[in-house]
Amino acid sequence: MVANALFAPRPLERDAPVFVAGHRGMVGSAICRHLAANGFGNILTRTHDELDLTDRAATFAFFRETRPAVVVVAAARVGGILANSTYPVDFISENLQIQVNVLDAAVEQRSERLLFLGSSCIYPKFADQPITEDSLLTGALEPTNDAYAIAKIAGIIQVQSVRRQYQLPWISAMPTNLYGPHDNFSENTSHVLPALIRRYDDATSSGQRVVTNWGSGAPRREFLHVDDMASACLHLLENYDGPSQVNVGTGVDHTIHEVARIVADAVDYTGETRWDTSKPDGTPRKLLDVSLLRESGWEARIPLQDGIAETVDWYRTHHASARV
Ligand SMILES: NC(=O)c1ccc[n+]([C@@H]2O[C@H](COP(=O)([O-])OP(=O)(O)OC[C@H]3O[C@@H](n4cnc5c(N)ncnc54)[C@H](OP(=O)(O)O)[C@@H]3O)[C@@H](O)[C@H]2O)c1
Repeated sequence: MVANALFAPRPLERDAPVFVAGHRGMVGSAICRHLAANGFGNILTRTHDELDLTDRAATFAFFRETRPAVVVVAAARVGGILANSTYPVDFISENLQIQVNVLDAAVEQRSERLLFLGSSCIYPKFADQPITEDSLLTGALEPTNDAYAIAKIAGIIQVQSVRRQYQLPWISAMPTNLYGPHDNFSENTSHVLPALIRRYDDATSSGQRVVTNWGSGAPRREFLHVDDMASACLHLLENYDGPSQVNVGTGVDHTIHEVARIVADAVDYTGETRWDTSKPDGTPRKLLDVSLLRESGWEARIPLQDGIAETVDWYRTHHASARV
């Protein structure tokens, strides 16, 4: 168990001004839907064009004008392995700037609660599985996304530092792989699950008879529907007040082979699947230990099959406007 965990129900005022940074992204949009469904009536949003969070002066001006009581930091430069290894400077620099500006501006306004979102890639490449929160900073990172991970680790430490220096009950959450509506389905920058959905759906609609996936299909990964993630975020904001980041996941993993099968079934693909074993598999297993989250009273609810079927529907319906 993580030391200093604190569970204390502290409901948020439903009319409190809540700034969701990155509200058009997959996570930010799910959080906005969940907040609205739970009675929040004063959700503050700005598109990237309206407010570039790497612009420190503009970020401070926005906070001075709107004085958010609650802040969710879901704005970030996000991408899969290819984007991370091709543009490491953008990943470290933009993410550091976004989070430092938002957290500093929120300190100036003494925002009462803040949730910083990171990612499971903050943990050492060879961390024991399932990965517990206290394995942070105990070993070397996966080199392909170390720039991004270091930015996220800096965010966790900044949140912990604000807790110490200003006694504000801010927290951080580290989600596992997420998927769902508004995901990024682009060929070059997407994560594994939306990439599989796109590949199998394209094959089905074009009548292609063979789909080839990278690697052996043997690595095990964990996937959480973004609506579950949004529910976990509100739950943590209202119930958790501890310095440790909290892992957010299902606690269950699947082989990529199994996930590809579920996706193929969801899009009615009847052709063959091949595995290109000349391509790297990556780490054999990545599963978060979610004991701390469970102890706080939250568990994932959306089964992977249902979540994938719903995401396929969303992808097909929103093909024209989705990130493809
Ligand atoms: N997706 C996952 O599987 C996953 C897993 C673990 C953790 N997370 C974490 O969850 C958070 C959100 O991820 P996501 O998947 O929702 O990403 P996303 O869909 O790419 O959304 C990111 C959002 O941030 C905005 N943004 C980026 N740079 C900005 C800037 N300089 N100023 C203002 N807004 C900016 C983007 O706006 P534009 O699109 O207009 O640029 C977008 O709305 C990230 O911290 C990520 O690390 C995601």
